Amino acid sequence: MNKIYKIVGNLSAMAVTGLLLFSCTSNPDSAGLEYMPDMYRSPAIEAYVDYGEVRGVQNDAMKNSQSALTPPKHTIPFVGTDTAEVLMSLPYHRLPSAAFAQTHGLFGWDFTKNATADYEYNESAKDKNPLKLTAANSEAIFKKGKELYTANCQHCHGEKGDGNGPMVTSGAYAGVPNYTDRASLGDGQMFYSIYYGKGAMGGHASLVSKKEIWTLVHYIRKFQNSAYGTFNADGTSAAVATAAPSDSTKVDAPKK
Ligand code: HEC
Repeated sequence: MNKIYKIVGNLSAMAVTGLLLFSCTSNPDSAGLEYMPDMYRSPAIEAYVDYGEVRGVQNDAMKNSQSALTPPKHTIPFVGTDTAEVLMSLPYHRLPSAAFAQTHGLFGWDFTKNATADYEYNESAKDKNPLKLTAANSEAIFKKGKELYTANCQHCHGEKGDGNGPMVTSGAYAGVPNYTDRASLGDGQMFYSIYYGKGAMGGHASLVSKKEIWTLVHYIRKFQNSAYGTFNADGTSAAVATAAPSDSTKVDAPKK
C-alpha cells in the first residue's frame, strides 16, 4: 500500500513540476500556458453577428438567428445625465390602443381597463411637449427636426407636409393626410401616433427616440403654422394662435 502512495506521490510531484515548467514561456508579455482560455479571454459577443459558427465550431440552431437581444421591457437608454432629457426618455406611460395592438402585433398588454379602442389615444391629447421651444433653441430644434423628418417621414408625408411624398405620388400608398388638416391634434396625440402608429402608418418607436419624436412634433407644427417657433425681439412668441388647442403654440420666452 505504501508503495502505491509513493508512486502516486511521485507522479503528482512530476506533474506539478511539469506544469510549472511548461507554464512559463520566454515571452515576457505572455501569460504562459492557459488552462481555460475562454475564461481569460471571453469571446466578444457582438450584436448582429451570426453565432452559427464560432472559432470553427458550427451550431445549426444559432445560424441566421438574431444575436442582438431585445432589451428587457422598460429599459431606459442611457441618454446622459441631463435631468430633462432623462425624464423625457422614461418608459412611455401610455398603452397602445387595443385596435392597433391587434393589427400591428403589439401583444402582451392588458386592455381590461381600456375598453374603447382609442381610449389611450384620446387621453394622450393631454400630454404636453416636454421639449420647450425658446428663442435660443428653436433654430437647432427645427434643424434637427428637418433632418429626422427627411430621413423617416418625408417619403410618405412629403417635403411640405402635404401628404404628397414619393410613396404617395408613385401610387404605391394612399391616405397620408395633409398636416394642416390635423392642426387640432394635441402634441401628445401626435407623439402617440408617431410612437405606436395609426391606421396605415406603422409605429416609429424603434426608429426615433422619444426626444426625437418630440422634436418632430415641433417640426410638424411648423407645417401647420409657419410662424410657429419664431420669436419677437423681446423674446415673446411671434406665432399667431391657430385652431390648435395645444399648448405648443404658446412657446416659452427665453430665460433672462
Ligand atoms: C408609410 C408611410 C408613412 C410614414 C413613413 C410616416 N407616416 Fe405618418 N401617417 C401616415 C398615414 C397613412 C397617416 C394617417 C393615419 C390615420 O389617421 O389613419 C399618418 C398620420 C400621421 C400623423 C397624424 C396622426 C394622428 O393622430 O392623426 C402624424 C402626426 C404623422 N403621421 C407623423 C409622422 C412622422 C413624424 C413620421 C416620421 C417619423 C411619419 N408620420 C411617417 C403614413 C406615414
